[in-house]
Amino acid sequence: MAAEKDPAKLSKQQVGYAAADRVKSGMIVGLGTGSTAAYMIEALGDRIKAGTLKDIKGVTTSFQGEVLAKQYGVPLTTLDEIDRIDVAIDGADEVDPQLNLIKGGGAAHTREKIVDYLAEQFIVVVDGSKIVDKLGSTFRVPVEVLPMAITPVMRAIAKLGGEPELRMGVRKAGPVITDQGNMVIDVKFNTIDNPGELEKTLNNIPGVLENGLFIGVTDLVLVGEIKDGQPIIREITK
Ligand code: 5RP
Repeated sequence: MAAEKDPAKLSKQQVGYAAADRVKSGMIVGLGTGSTAAYMIEALGDRIKAGTLKDIKGVTTSFQGEVLAKQYGVPLTTLDEIDRIDVAIDGADEVDPQLNLIKGGGAAHTREKIVDYLAEQFIVVVDGSKIVDKLGSTFRVPVEVLPMAITPVMRAIAKLGGEPELRMGVRKAGPVITDQGNMVIDVKFNTIDNPGELEKTLNNIPGVLENGLFIGVTDLVLVGEIKDGQPIIREITK
């Protein structure tokens, strides 16, 4: 695989590859969604082809992951067929000092939460731009909602002090539709003082399927950065 030229892409590529190197033969691996996780899936496929990785199975978190796994030759399984996930590797939109996350930039946070929370070890792969002091500083909180409940859910979120916005498609007229056939509301909060409480409050609104706050679940964050022109990987643990 040729190294990416663009520094932002190079950081994502290198951290994706570094995470793939941590996967061992025989493991069941949660395959995350997004551009960084895509590099990890590609690298798993390369290791399988090279014979350095054997007998792994992937559990996808999105249609994107399924397509990539098939493209790169990563065998897949489903939650019905397994009783454990050894490691999940996934991207994030924000990471705070407690390793809490905002995810859902790719509208896949519902499936991601199921798979990432089931894993024995959850590794997050990001470039340095995703590290923040406080969740909500740069990214809004994605909330997946059943289409018939969009209006009451938006009202309930506004009552909580959030500014809800229906996520619209790019190069597709109308709203983004998730892999489950639902819609996504992105919510701006002026400050998120207690992300754990907000996660529960949002999920208690009837019609909400899942939100993108991932609290207390991350074991390790790998950060891809460029230092003195060279890509480096920084590790952050709890
Ligand atoms: C998808 C996600 C992604 O992991 C997150 O948006 C990060 O994506 P990228 O690696 O492309 O920056 O949560 O729902």
